Amino acid sequence: MAIAIGGNEASAELRDAEVRIGGRTIWSEVSMRIEQGEFVGLLGENGSGKSTLLKVLLGALPLRHGTASVLGRAPGGANSAIGFLPQRPVFGAGLRLRGRDLVRLGLDGDRWGLPLGFGRNAATRRAAARARVADTIELVGAGAYAERPIGELSGGEQQRLLIAQALVRRPRLLLLDEPLDSLDLPNQASVSALVDRIRREAGIAVLLVAHDVNPLLSYLDRVAYLAAGHAVVGPVREVITSETLTALYGVPVEVLRASDGRLAVIGQPEAPAHHHDRHGHDHDHDHEAAHIHAS
Ligand SMILES: Nc1ncnc2c1ncn2[C@@H]1O[C@H](COP(=O)(O)OP(=O)(O)O)[C@@H](O)[C@H]1O
Ligand SMILES: [Mg+2]
Repeated sequence: MAIAIGGNEASAELRDAEVRIGGRTIWSEVSMRIEQGEFVGLLGENGSGKSTLLKVLLGALPLRHGTASVLGRAPGGANSAIGFLPQRPVFGAGLRLRGRDLVRLGLDGDRWGLPLGFGRNAATRRAAARARVADTIELVGAGAYAERPIGELSGGEQQRLLIAQALVRRPRLLLLDEPLDSLDLPNQASVSALVDRIRREAGIAVLLVAHDVNPLLSYLDRVAYLAAGHAVVGPVREVITSETLTALYGVPVEVLRASDGRLAVIGQPEAPAHHHDRHGHDHDHDHEAAHIHAS
């Protein structure tokens, strides 16, 4: 377990954490620590509890056991310093909201309003907010299409603007729930590179939920892999191995490494909750994807 440098607190920490939903334990005995500026991938099958873990860090779900802290506070206490990208927001093709307005919503779309430091005078505050939105759009490279209606943009363009929305308050921690989902391979690669560049430039810690670790392999400091109600945390080369995943799942799992370094996880069982998924079609699709894409 890494030690924070200079006495700084972890960006996020779980100790011996357990979550229950509706009387069922989703995961337990989970301990992990995300250092400042660290890029951690959160992996696992659908239903393994990845989004649940983000909800815990946001203070939206209590722990049944153990402790959690985020930026030195109890979960929920530092949410204004967290940029959160929820899983799969859906934009209808007819949505007229411009990209720029979507990013702006990240500044004032919650009960805190504009952050302090934007001035007291209304005109000054508006100008500061406009400048902040423009800077953030530049940061993610979305300037060319930020004036267009969001519903007309490609998945990759939408995802860059959503990342800008999560970044616009200049958070110290980014929680991104499957930002690569529904992107084609080139966009998975470029959004992964974008997140890595931003966290290096701004020193932001990132916890990114992903189904497939491959687009992230060259960027992640560590991974947390959720399966069978538990987690293993460590460098990719230590966690995504036949031995570690077989022990975690409790059944034989094989990890293959292609000559280009890409990893394929073979034979992992699906999470038990999968069978109760209400969305039958999505379920089949996700299940399929889980076995084609390596985790
Ligand atoms: N609000 C809820 N009510 C009941 N069960 C839930 C709720 N949210 C999540 N779950 C269950 O918790 C488990 C973990 O869900 P989730 O964290 O969304 O998994 P993941 O993000 O890894 O796909 C699943 O079995 C899911 O069905
Ligand atoms: Mg999820």
